[in-house]
Amino acid sequence: MRHLFIASLFFASTSAFADSASDYAAQCASCHGASGAGDGTPLPVTPANFQEAAFWSSRTDDQVKGAIKGGGASVGKSPMMPPLGAAWSDAQLDAMVAYLKTFKK
Ligand code: HEC
Repeated sequence: MRHLFIASLFFASTSAFADSASDYAAQCASCHGASGAGDGTPLPVTPANFQEAAFWSSRTDDQVKGAIKGGGASVGKSPMMPPLGAAWSDAQLDAMVAYLKTFKK
């Protein structure tokens, strides 16, 4: 019984740290583009371009996390940005922000 408990804790924590790169490819790239340039499927509102230094200098990491967690509407942006991180842990949100920064030029 105790081993089962420890095993389930282990699986719970590893899935919480799911690889941000594969999350991005599966859930974000269709709109934001494979290399983060905001050049996925054309939309009436252009998805954020994570390559732009100006994007990162005009927001805090917490604002970026807020958009991923609550969607665009929760941070005064377009609802075309869905709240995909609504069920993510804080660590998963931090990991995604760190990953998005790898696109910065
Ligand atoms: C259905 C298309 C779509 C998908 C899928 C999508 N986004 Fe977005 N995202 C947008 C659009 C459109 C905007 C621009 C909103 C605006 O500027 O009003 C945006 C904006 C953002 C922003 C910037 C918010 C700000 O402060 O301006 C972040 C960060 C972001 N998306 C992260 C993500 C992440 C991470 C994923 C995947 C988990 C994702 N997006 C998936 C469409 C999408």
